[in-house]
Amino acid sequence: MSEPQKFDLPGTIVTGGGASAAAGEHAARLGADRALVVTDPYILSTGIAERIRDHLRQEGVEAEIFSEVQSDPTDANVAAGLLALEEQEARIVVAVGGGSALDAGKMIAVAKNNPGPLSDFMGYHRIPHAGVPLIAIPTTAGTGSEATRVTVITDSAAHTKMMILDGKLVPAVALVDYELTLTMPQSLTAHVGVDTLTHGIEAYVSALSNPMTEPYALSCIGLVGRNLRRAWAAPDDREARAAMAIAACQGGIAFANASVCLVHGMSRPLGAVFGVPHGLSNAVLLPAVTAYSLAGAPERYATVARALGIARPGDSVADAGERLLDELARLNQDLQVPRLRELPGVEEATFEANLAKMASDALASGSPARNPIVPEASEIEAIYRQAW
Ligand SMILES: [Fe+2]
Repeated sequence: MSEPQKFDLPGTIVTGGGASAAAGEHAARLGADRALVVTDPYILSTGIAERIRDHLRQEGVEAEIFSEVQSDPTDANVAAGLLALEEQEARIVVAVGGGSALDAGKMIAVAKNNPGPLSDFMGYHRIPHAGVPLIAIPTTAGTGSEATRVTVITDSAAHTKMMILDGKLVPAVALVDYELTLTMPQSLTAHVGVDTLTHGIEAYVSALSNPMTEPYALSCIGLVGRNLRRAWAAPDDREARAAMAIAACQGGIAFANASVCLVHGMSRPLGAVFGVPHGLSNAVLLPAVTAYSLAGAPERYATVARALGIARPGDSVADAGERLLDELARLNQDLQVPRLRELPGVEEATFEANLAKMASDALASGSPARNPIVPEASEIEAIYRQAW
């Protein structure tokens, strides 16, 4: 048996259409009379952030909006948000948006009670004090950030992504309201949907997968198998959107407690070098990384294929693995996920020039160490080439 493992979860998770309307009730229950809504300019433009602010005010919680979070949020975004929090004398953060807004909101809430450069908190469990409470409201399905103890903040001086993992980053409340995802554009639905699938798969095949995380991982995979193509083809398919919102949250719970693996390890350098958004870079890499990793955990991947609904219980492990590889390639085709070389701004010369650094950065992140096969740098380069 492996070592004892910790399982972190938001204190309260509210799911279903209209769940975000409970923001005020939960903020008041947590004892806050003033809140800061943290979001990005896009979500502000949709009116969603103002609706959340109004829900807060209706419950007697004074609220203002901070909307300066950029995609791939930086330490400067966190500092500006912290300033807004202090100016408002807010006692709770309500983060609304995709992974970037939620990650920034988590760090702002924690930074309130933890002075010092954010790089001090990089890595595992290095945040000394609890922050102010956080309510997380995802608008994509998704990163699963609403359910995790992880935040990724860019160090704007060093141009690196700081990964910070700590139980103090877990939101007090997650409001998982699929109605907020109905207006997601088709390409975003595809990219974050495959990212969700990646969370389920990586959590399930991870060296840290355990009996607490496995049911969430397999449920996430099954929901994606039955609903992602539907949500992509018909954005207002409420049943499919509701299922994908649950899948994203379950995927977040699974990977935050079992770790991600090689896909995420290789994905972050693509973000750092080319600015490829998180979901897209994972989607681009998932088929090639799975082909590489299959032999390291054939039974696990066969179970993934069955959960996805593309292999039957009677199929051999080898057949199920083949079907999984076929399905991941077909899924990317069906959802029009481009190849790496087709991404805007990704030039072959830059790709070749950065390959060695991307491979060593991927290894340094630690995630590849959880993979069913732990690769050498040269193998990571080969996988990048395969995805090219
Ligand atoms: Fe992810």
